Amino acid sequence: MSDKSEIVIVSNRLPVHRVERDGGAGWETSPGGLVSAMTPILQDRPSTWIGWAGAADCSLEPFEHDGIRNCPVPLSTEEIANFYEGFSNSTLWPLYHDAIRTPSYHRHWWRPYREVNERFATIAAEVAAPNGIVWIHDYHFQLVPSILRTLRPDLKIGFFLHIPFPPEELFAQLPWRREMLEGLLGADVVGFQTKIGAQNFARLCRRYTEVTGTRDLDFKGRHVTIRAFPISIDFDRYESLARDPAVQQRAEAFKRQLGVNRRIVLGVDRMDYTKGIDIRIKAYGELLRSKRTTLQDSVFVQVAVPSRERVDEYQSLRDEVERLVGAINGTFGELGMAPIHYLHRSLPAEELVGLYLAADVMVVTPFRDGMNLVAKEYVASRIDEDGVLLLSEFTGSAHELKAALQVNPHDVDGLTNRMYAALTMSPTEQSRRMRRLRRIIRENTVYDWANTFFEALTA
Ligand code: G6P
Repeated sequence: MSDKSEIVIVSNRLPVHRVERDGGAGWETSPGGLVSAMTPILQDRPSTWIGWAGAADCSLEPFEHDGIRNCPVPLSTEEIANFYEGFSNSTLWPLYHDAIRTPSYHRHWWRPYREVNERFATIAAEVAAPNGIVWIHDYHFQLVPSILRTLRPDLKIGFFLHIPFPPEELFAQLPWRREMLEGLLGADVVGFQTKIGAQNFARLCRRYTEVTGTRDLDFKGRHVTIRAFPISIDFDRYESLARDPAVQQRAEAFKRQLGVNRRIVLGVDRMDYTKGIDIRIKAYGELLRSKRTTLQDSVFVQVAVPSRERVDEYQSLRDEVERLVGAINGTFGELGMAPIHYLHRSLPAEELVGLYLAADVMVVTPFRDGMNLVAKEYVASRIDEDGVLLLSEFTGSAHELKAALQVNPHDVDGLTNRMYAALTMSPTEQSRRMRRLRRIIRENTVYDWANTFFEALTA
């Protein structure tokens, strides 16, 4: 490529996905906070987004979409198995989420991880303008900062980890722990969702690498800023969708469909074992069993977006969730009336916000989550300042959303009690909490997050 970019974003997925239309294949902007947060920054100046187009062995030329230049990087079928499903999602993902599923450590995954990181770093080095900025996202690319630093010492390099960074006792299991830490130390700014993540990283670097310093670190004569940058959502977008008459009509239709006198409990997640979908369904079953709620009083809606379906642990979670839903519906349902409605698919934003508007209680129960944006989306959509957010203590969001009803998802009795408390919370208490939650999210949107990170990087 001839013309160079002042800003380069590196993430596993491109901000667009392929769609088949009548006239052939095209690209559509993907939904999601990261894409909307970056768009204003990238559209202002020459910029490139480097990422995988989502299919195997597909080699595509760079192209422009919505004012952003996209540079698709091919991954072979083997690389998808070893780099993406293997090292990224069966080693790092479980390890970084409290090892709630046993991480697998395979040398035949590590090598492709390193090679794919080298490929992305090489492309970033080719497209970045002199003294340009490269912002690398997430656990798939923890070696890219140091490789890129060697290739292009002139660049400003930022890295942001979207998922939790684990404590020493867990991270120390990783056979390639030093390489991983030194990989990240190639950046000028290493950002985490929470202070705890930043502290874990700094502590591990002091233990396993040659850094000096306490909070920020010095490594090979360079200063590395280590800090928490809690990510957020586009508050106004959710608020205005919630004000849209068409979306409000959808919400009313959902309520009618589910039963006007039934309180609606909602869960929306990627189908992932970190999210605690199984535990919340069990807790709802206990509420029914103990008759603290009945089929007539309430209904549970679970939307589970298909995810990483070729990985065994994801398949067994889906089986377990579907078994639980079937068992509870079989026990407590009647003909024409089910206690749990379960959708295994993604929904367009208008439908999702319609559901947020219809839901009296939003249940967010991950065993561990870097942030959890669904919790924030629910709050932003609650324009009438009512509704209850039941939120796991082990999400990044719980650090900010103190006014939520917080819960330890490992404690089924506690979760059941909290669900009951949520279903019976007074309107005054609901709005006291919801007002505080809304203020917090309104004051730190995804745009503030992106700007704060950029300021730290260009300081
Ligand atoms: C998490 C990760 C993202 C990832 C997303 C969807 O939010 O932090 O990097 O893109 O899950 O997962 P997928 O494997 O489908 O990209």
